Amino acid sequence: MNELNDLDIILQDALKLVTSVTSINELDLTKTSTLGKSGKINALMQNLKNISNNDKKTYGAKINHLKTTIENAFLSRREELSSYALTKKITEETIDVTLDGNHNKLGSLHPVSITLNRMLNIFGQMGFDIADGPEIETDYYNFKALNIPDNHPARAMQDTFYTENNNVLRTHTSPIQIRYTENKTPPIKVIAPGRVYRVDMDATHSPMFHQLEGLWIDKNISFANLKGVIVEFLRKFFNKEDLQIRFRASFFPFTEPSAEVDILSNDNKWLEVLGCGMVHPEVLKNMNIDVNEYNGFAFGMGIDRFTMLRYDIQDLRLMFENDIDFLNQFSGKNEVDI
Ligand code: PHE
Repeated sequence: MNELNDLDIILQDALKLVTSVTSINELDLTKTSTLGKSGKINALMQNLKNISNNDKKTYGAKINHLKTTIENAFLSRREELSSYALTKKITEETIDVTLDGNHNKLGSLHPVSITLNRMLNIFGQMGFDIADGPEIETDYYNFKALNIPDNHPARAMQDTFYTENNNVLRTHTSPIQIRYTENKTPPIKVIAPGRVYRVDMDATHSPMFHQLEGLWIDKNISFANLKGVIVEFLRKFFNKEDLQIRFRASFFPFTEPSAEVDILSNDNKWLEVLGCGMVHPEVLKNMNIDVNEYNGFAFGMGIDRFTMLRYDIQDLRLMFENDIDFLNQFSGKNEVDI
């Protein structure tokens, strides 16, 4: 019977078609066109009525078998394709945990902040409070109250940035002495760190730099107390018990007597590190302090200068350039533990 040969060809073609399909979508479409109403198999079924009764049974069984075989082929191809798809998905989504990650660099404290923290810690242990004040100051607080009247030659010591209304960018942290004290009664024991501004720029001067002011007012405060605090602070700060320290007589309008303090460097040079003195009676008056009962001392130091000395930094400007290679040298350092 010719039809039986045809069935064989139909089967082979259908199986070939099934294996050639590479996606589930395509498979579904092929299945409809092969096994659906307008497909070849259905046409064969329709054709059964033209087959002689003798052959009908065998032929019918053959067609049914053919149909099942093709259906099974579709089924197993479907499983095959979905398992491929899954494997592909899993492979593509695999995370290689051995790859290096994208690192976030950790920030760190600026060397000036490290130095300030160290200073705050040492003075904190000596019982000093911390005060603050405005960076834009009036002429009164920055100069007059500190015994620097108009046209006083001391004004020329500090080249001043003026803002509007005759205000100034404070040239030192000393105005905080007045602001902090005018409404308080002693004992007053305070330090005040902050930015200060002067018209100046070279390897050791910057138009903005940092100072730390100190003030201690109480009964019977003497120059010996001043010396004690300063010596103790410097030895702690530089972590050197036998640090050589020299007090040199000097002049500041707001202190009398006044001194500048030098330390002996490792290469045997005297380096000036701070100014200090007993608070001038005129200044005590401006603080509303009874000069018959109280006296006190004040000191002021450059935080940047201490940073340069401690880390052997040659150029002050480096500290304000935010150069990452420079700053990285200080990462992980936070030397507050004294
Ligand atoms: N204000 C002074 C300066 O800027 C430092 C100083 C402070 C000196 C307190 C004596 C007492 O140079």
